[in-house]
Amino acid sequence: MPYDLVVIGTGPGGYVCAIRAAQLGLKTAVVEKEKTFGGTCLNIGCIPSKALLHASELYEEAGHTFGKMGIRVGAPALDLAAMMKFKDEGVDGNVKGVAFLLKKNKIDSFQGVGRIAAPGKIEVRSADGKIETAETKNIVIATGSDVARLKGIEIDEQRIVSSTGALALAKVPEKLLVVGAGVIGLELGSVWRRLGAQVEVVEFLDRILPGMDLDVARQFQRLLQRQGLTFRLSSKVTAIDAAGEKLKASVEPAAGGTAESIEADVALIAIGRVPYTQGLGLDAVGVKFDNKGRVAVDAHFATNVPGIYAIGDVIAGPMLAHKAEDEGVAAAEIIAGRAGHVNYDAIPNVIYTFPEVASVGRSEEELKAAGIAYNTGRFPFTANGRAKVNLTTDGFVKILADAKTDRVLGVHIVGADAGTMIAEAAVAIELGASSEDIARTSHAHPTLTEAIREAAMAVEKWSIHM
Ligand code: FAD
Ligand code: NAI
Repeated sequence: MPYDLVVIGTGPGGYVCAIRAAQLGLKTAVVEKEKTFGGTCLNIGCIPSKALLHASELYEEAGHTFGKMGIRVGAPALDLAAMMKFKDEGVDGNVKGVAFLLKKNKIDSFQGVGRIAAPGKIEVRSADGKIETAETKNIVIATGSDVARLKGIEIDEQRIVSSTGALALAKVPEKLLVVGAGVIGLELGSVWRRLGAQVEVVEFLDRILPGMDLDVARQFQRLLQRQGLTFRLSSKVTAIDAAGEKLKASVEPAAGGTAESIEADVALIAIGRVPYTQGLGLDAVGVKFDNKGRVAVDAHFATNVPGIYAIGDVIAGPMLAHKAEDEGVAAAEIIAGRAGHVNYDAIPNVIYTFPEVASVGRSEEELKAAGIAYNTGRFPFTANGRAKVNLTTDGFVKILADAKTDRVLGVHIVGADAGTMIAEAAVAIELGASSEDIARTSHAHPTLTEAIREAAMAVEKWSIHM
């Protein structure tokens, strides 16, 4: 009997889609080419990077902040191999968790590279060349993304690395050159700076974190500089000479001009990710792509070929695990005949550095470009009691609310635990709350979340602690 649904790829998009489909009674299978489930996020993305961010943050705190709180531990010593083991164990626990959930939901799994031989027919080629075929009424493509390459620069994952190599360096580089001041560059740059590397970031644009609210990005850059990261904005790396003991990177102004040479021990190429559709056979079955090489889908995640859907990093939208998950749920519900939907206005975005940066909804630049009048409420963590006592006063909360209706349009936070706190703002946006709704909601004292409430109060200029 054919499957109702076969999902190709078991990242956060694919495995969540499969579980939701099984919950809804669909006979479901997944195809995964790697040995473990969980995709980029669990194996070489979100989970290992957060393990290293967590461990390196504590290492830094032990060295710098413990003493201020009366805890004398002496200078902390780094055991990098043990830290990597801690990270690997965290990954292992998570990928095993996915295997358990797939089994629990009675989802079949095929291990190997999946190819859509025809609508309704998937061929899976395993590592030993064996081919299995699965017949199915529906297919969801959830094959994710891959590292974007820089022309002429070969990633060897030893000295010239992508995020994958940067999550597994055998020793702390004396000098780390980061190409791209996006999320990966700043998160992994922070990890290695804390562990002792000198970190220089080269960014093509005249700002870091394109897409984030500019005010937030500028403040965040200042904080990172204070921690020791250095930035060369409006610059590009055009070549890296790996012949000598040190790497020699040629760096030019973005607009062109005289090249300078920068020496480094390791270079991290973090200039974005590209959709991954290699080997899927999409051209042969006639699935269309958009102008950026992503699988083109309609509002119901359907491609132009009946019975073939796509979700996650391989389609348009932010390349985020929770966005992929939300699409996985929605696509499964649609395939099961229900009304699945994703609200793209309420997807939070978090950078897990210290302090964290988190946002949901629109930035000031986006509101200005759309001609939407808005009021701003802002509150710094220097005025928050808990932040003061915790010695985490860097950063602020900014709330943007519609000038006419007071509806919350965007929330931006730089600060400790911003990534956890942004959930409140996401709920507010999802439910169409006004800034007054947040301002009049009791927030426990003393918590950092009071800064969100105070920023909401500041929209109508009645913030109490400023
Ligand atoms: P993926 O997770 O990429 O999964 C795709 C899967 O499909 C893979 O397992 C792949 O092996 C499989 N596959 C591909 N082709 C085939 C085929 N033909 N046959 C069988 N299997 C196939 N996002 C966040 O939200 N928070 C974070 O903190 C975060 N941190 C990140 C850190 C790093 C270093 C990186 C690189 C990414 C990070 N991301 C983060 C982004 C996140 O990992 C992706 O958005 C997410 O994994 C996308 O999920 P997906 O299911 O679309 O694809
Ligand atoms: P990114 O798109 O976030 O940043 C890439 C940066 O590189 C941009 O600032 C861009 O202007 C710059 N750039 C591009 N070409 C360049 C060049 N030739 N020279 C110098 N700079 C150049 O991409 P990144 O950091 O690689 O991350 C990929 C994706 O992974 C992100 O889109 C993000 O969604 C996801 N991710 C999410 C995380 C999170 O949610 N915390 C963590 C890590 C990754």
